[in-house]
Amino acid sequence: MADSGQAKAQEEPVKYYALKEVEEHNNEKSLWVVIHNKVYDVTMFLASHPGGEAVMLEQAGKIASEPFDDVGHSSDAKALKEEHYIGELATADRVANDKEKTPNYNETPEAKQSWCQLL
Ligand code: HEM
Repeated sequence: MADSGQAKAQEEPVKYYALKEVEEHNNEKSLWVVIHNKVYDVTMFLASHPGGEAVMLEQAGKIASEPFDDVGHSSDAKALKEEHYIGELATADRVANDKEKTPNYNETPEAKQSWCQLL
């Protein structure tokens, strides 16, 4: 009946994209990137990306988690990317143990040591 659709209208079902599909969106006309197993359509953001278009085009259609983290994007930038979120990477293509890198996140004892040396 009419009221049965009410709750559904507010819940967006999560969309899953195969990496193969993401890879097709690899140019300025349609530019998707994967960051930590999440898919972002940054086509409309490309021209206003403060880091420029070239770096983004280099990652077009790719898994860009490491390049994104390595830049040391601000928390504002991380929040901003959620505006471009379109879905999740398909289960078969997901990167295992894909954690966001932060300066306090020490993956290995060597990494920890190098951080200590910096301090
Ligand atoms: C949805 C995805 C992205 C968003 C929302 C985003 C947003 C931003 C923002 C807001 C800045 C300004 C500095 C800051 O606040 O951190 C920035 C800078 C930058 N971004 Fe992105 N970015 C994205 C993806 C990428 C990717 C995939 C790369 C590839 C390496 C990249 C490379 C850079 C670089 C090199 C800078 C300049 C850093 C600097 O001047 O110190 N960004 N980005």
